[in-house]
Amino acid sequence: MHKFIELNTLNIKNRYTDLIHQTFFFPRHGFDVKDNQLFFHGVDLNELIEKFGTPLKFNYLPKIDSQIEKARNLFNQAFEKYDYQGKYNYCYCTKSSHFSFVLNRVLENGVDLETSSAFDLSIIKKLAANGKFQKNQFIICNGYKTEQYAQNMASLVESGFENLVCVLDNVDEFDLIDKYAKKPMHLGIRIATEEEPNFLVYTSRLGMSHKKIVDLYEEKIKHNPKFSLNVLHFFVNSGIRDTTYFWSELTRLVNVYCDVKQVCPELENLDIGGGMPIYTSLGVEYDYAYMIDQIVYYIKAICDNREVPVPNILTEFGSFTVGESGGSLYSIIGQKEQNDKELWYMINSSFITTLPDTWGIGQKFIMLAVNQWDHEFQRINLGGLTCDSQDFYNSDTNTNQVFMPKLKDGEVLHMGFFHTGAYQESLGGYGGIQHCLIPAPKHILIDLDDEGNLKYEVFATEQNVDSMLNILGY
Ligand SMILES: Cc1ncc(COP(=O)(O)O)c(C=O)c1O
Repeated sequence: MHKFIELNTLNIKNRYTDLIHQTFFFPRHGFDVKDNQLFFHGVDLNELIEKFGTPLKFNYLPKIDSQIEKARNLFNQAFEKYDYQGKYNYCYCTKSSHFSFVLNRVLENGVDLETSSAFDLSIIKKLAANGKFQKNQFIICNGYKTEQYAQNMASLVESGFENLVCVLDNVDEFDLIDKYAKKPMHLGIRIATEEEPNFLVYTSRLGMSHKKIVDLYEEKIKHNPKFSLNVLHFFVNSGIRDTTYFWSELTRLVNVYCDVKQVCPELENLDIGGGMPIYTSLGVEYDYAYMIDQIVYYIKAICDNREVPVPNILTEFGSFTVGESGGSLYSIIGQKEQNDKELWYMINSSFITTLPDTWGIGQKFIMLAVNQWDHEFQRINLGGLTCDSQDFYNSDTNTNQVFMPKLKDGEVLHMGFFHTGAYQESLGGYGGIQHCLIPAPKHILIDLDDEGNLKYEVFATEQNVDSMLNILGY
């Protein structure tokens, strides 16, 4: 549903505000413009910048609540529609953003957790010690099982975390957890997905084939009083999309669930992983209600057809939970005309260090000017501060180009990347040593108080030189 988009053939007035209003359905998704200044969920971003300066990262925390509520409502609606006799369980995938303010927020929403490494479990222990995580909540342990990870799982189960599930990726992981587990515990098994035809490998390197799952269960789990198999998990690498590939892969995987359920009656949960898309462009539209409706419909129809009771459905939405809460704001600190076609606007930070997905996997995000919307627009390239020639951003999802307001001498321009709340800090290495010693930006948390008024908290100030020199051993 995007309006586009042969820019040259459209009768666009040449102000930045006209460009945005005519190219996209705008305002939407919490974005709005008043007096030529950008607002995000009612936050006057220009005012935010005046208060705290740039570069600045922020998280608008109420968005986390509304995303969780949205998924739960849509699953519940679909459950009612299809008379689905199972439960829906929203888990948050901690690796998307490990920050305490994210974990605290998702837990306030009664969400369970999915982990991917040994230290993730230390976070859970700490949250439990502070009364934020209860011992009967689900902990779905995915990821490669090292000795330390297996020890941490076993120790949490011993201390009473009765719903920790060790999801096995291969048979060796069974032997490893068997070595450390003293108390009975739950196991899960990850089903290997078949990748899209254009992917580099045919079958995902993660998970096990259908036959191996049944063999592992029959040989090592079925008669073992220490373990019960109660979750099957899969994660379709390309995410939840309304494509023939996704629906046919879902059908195959639900059939695997039914096959295993027929030999393993204790199995009752199907964890369909993460991958719910988020808006990284103002030019697309996702029909979440339809996708969730169809997921529930397929699972129910296949299980009914196979005469197998429907499973409880677990999801591990990472980006969906936290992605749209985040943003990064920069100022343009210089311009450089490189030839008659290429004009560069320099931001006061780096894409490589603060938005590494833009550099590593060519990820696009929603990108908008924060001020000067009444100025004429022009095509530009955005350059980052590092000396790396790859530290740039010059292509938007819909237009394959980037436009910004034109500036006269002395005029100030701020701009922002939005929905950047997932993965960027963990991949970029928050507060560590980064390319050309570009410091980690300050980080502001935005929330609503009891009266619904905006409130701000400085989570971290900009990284300082002492912290870097310290890490470097000076
Ligand atoms: C096992 C597993 N679950 C959940 C997720 C979260 O995916 P997303 O952020 O796309 O929701 C990931 C992401 O890599 C994953 O590997």
